[in-house]
Amino acid sequence: MKKLVTTIILLFIFLITAFFVESNDNATNNSASKPIVGILQTVSHPSLDEIHRGIIAGLKEDGYVNHKNITIDFENAQGDQSNLKSMSDRFIQKNAKVTIGIATPAAQALANEPGKTPVIMGAISDPIGSGLVHSLEHPGGKVTGVKDMQPIKQQLDLIQAFLPKLKDIGVLYTSSDDSSTSEFKEFKRLAQQRKLRVHPYTITSTNDIQQVAQTMAGQVQAVYVPTDNTVASGFSSLIKITNQAHLPVFPAVDAMVKSGGVAATYVSQFDMGKATGKIAAEVLKGKNPSEIPVKVIHNYSTIINEKAANELHLQIPTAIIKQAQKKGSIIK
Ligand code: TRP
Repeated sequence: MKKLVTTIILLFIFLITAFFVESNDNATNNSASKPIVGILQTVSHPSLDEIHRGIIAGLKEDGYVNHKNITIDFENAQGDQSNLKSMSDRFIQKNAKVTIGIATPAAQALANEPGKTPVIMGAISDPIGSGLVHSLEHPGGKVTGVKDMQPIKQQLDLIQAFLPKLKDIGVLYTSSDDSSTSEFKEFKRLAQQRKLRVHPYTITSTNDIQQVAQTMAGQVQAVYVPTDNTVASGFSSLIKITNQAHLPVFPAVDAMVKSGGVAATYVSQFDMGKATGKIAAEVLKGKNPSEIPVKVIHNYSTIINEKAANELHLQIPTAIIKQAQKKGSIIK
């Protein structure tokens, strides 16, 4: 009898121990062995939020789902440089398998980390000029991803269709922002070929928008806004002033048209995000970022804000309406 009791107790101890060892094993499988994907977003505004959603969709389409076989660690720096640095540091400390930077400052912060952790660029306007890669075809290092290439020629066609007599156009952007500066230069080059006079209006923070908008009002007949993170964040304060001054704003992306811009020919932010997520998936599967060419999306849609055009007493050209009906949308 005593022997039987001892056996039963021993068996119990064995089973309990086995159970704990097993559940411990599961716990390690659940967190530590799942690769971490660190996503760093520069700031919140509708376009970058859409890129973020696209990234999640792109990863998913190629088999990577949060909590299932990857752990997505998402951080938003809220436009703060010191956040960008500390959040990038944290991804490295956590041993992220791949990191993704949404907008130039985030990608730059991630790329500045020591070590070889891959960095996937999410919609970066000037990957070479901002020092992220040496070549789009052969990035050659730990950084690759998606370049945000504005269809500036089509955007100028659209602006001139609305305003055939246009002579002076302002470009509003942030002087310290590498991405906007490069878009400004390209815009200026192409606009000058059309004999337009291009006036730069630079800001250093959203606080400057109001005053600069008032200055522009007397000097130009239209305003172009590139993919500038600061202007995108303070877009409504710009539109308030420009509407009062009857000054039409033609932005680079659909989100800014939805917030009061007149019209745009644009690249889908979601699609750029999706392409970014798919490149991250390739890297998760073992491909070296140095061997993945930087991707550019050449697929354009047109969006018109009919209400904004009406308020500004702007006639919407039939050709542009057709363009938007064929591929794009009209906001009534
Ligand atoms: N191209 C920007 C950069 O390189 C990021 C960006 C993408 C953006 N889409 C945008 C900025 C729309 C403003 C609005 O930083």
